[in-house]
Amino acid sequence: MKRSIVTGGAGFIGSALVRGLLRSGHCVETIDNFATGKRENLDEISDQVKVHTADIRRYHEIAPILAGADRVFHLAAIPSVPKSILDPVPSHEANVDGTFNVLRAAAQGGVGRVVYAASSSAYGDTEVLPKVETMLPRPKSPYAVQKLLGEYYASVFASCFGLETVSLRFFNVFGPRQDPTSVYSGVLSIFLTCLLERRKPTIYGDGEQSRDFTFVEDVVNLLLKASEAPNVSGKVYNAGNGNRYTLNETWALLQAIEGVDLPAKYAPERPGDVRDSQADVAGAVRDLGHEPQYSFEQGLRLTLEWYRLDQAKRGASIA
Ligand code: UD1
Repeated sequence: MKRSIVTGGAGFIGSALVRGLLRSGHCVETIDNFATGKRENLDEISDQVKVHTADIRRYHEIAPILAGADRVFHLAAIPSVPKSILDPVPSHEANVDGTFNVLRAAAQGGVGRVVYAASSSAYGDTEVLPKVETMLPRPKSPYAVQKLLGEYYASVFASCFGLETVSLRFFNVFGPRQDPTSVYSGVLSIFLTCLLERRKPTIYGDGEQSRDFTFVEDVVNLLLKASEAPNVSGKVYNAGNGNRYTLNETWALLQAIEGVDLPAKYAPERPGDVRDSQADVAGAVRDLGHEPQYSFEQGLRLTLEWYRLDQAKRGASIA
């Protein structure tokens, strides 16, 4: 049985990956400091997973756990572009120092392969869409720089230290368990909870910015494929769906799905915000066998139903 470790395993994407690994018969351990990850994300599978409370910023906490693993999926991070602008030190420490520690510990500990969660934010604003891995990165925020640096380190650990690594640039992942409770939360988690609570969301800017929203299960499948594909060490791939939707289109679609009329409020554009984002997925299809299964609308409907049930459960537990 393969021993796989997920850093950030109590987070939204991490906990979905843990479930995917268990379904594929892996023996799974997680590393999380529970800064943004939540124990409840692992609740129904807690008896099948070894949960380590450890911090990637502290090498000596994580090195003994990572040693000898077949696969490490490095998803632990402090996400959010605006958070990294308002308070850059914590995100730098987690995203840059933490990633370096994970790679170093993996190399020292003889790990079979590290799959790293990179970010589409590395591209910044490009003249051409969709965005291809060969484009020159133009990060616009500390978060984007931090995630790009992690990729560079992953590639260099492959070439200089013989550690197998693959980086996947995630494109605006959404789905069940994404935490909607902060102003820094992913926009779809906020839109979906606004919809259910019949509140108007705030759109930053004119709402014509676009994103390649990617359903979490498609990302989980790609992570699994990237952990096994041959001849990909040191490489970087887009992990997107290949489409793009503006925020205005998205909010209109959600209102139509739910049959409500709740015009959004508008506020000034956020600093560091990328205008348009869309993945060219040809590389991931060719080398990793990427095969997105969920259309945007399918993913939205599944996620909406998850939030609806979750709200009902929370309501029931308060009553
Ligand atoms: C960026 C990355 C993404 C990464 C994420 C981590 C890009 C293109 N994408 O996402 O790959 O996973 O960081 O945090 O760089 N917005 C609103 N109202 C809200 C919240 C957000 O209008 O209440 C807007 C934002 O200004 C932005 C868009 O929605 O234009 C998406 O924001 P968000 O979900 O935070 O993700 P990105 O910053 O695009």
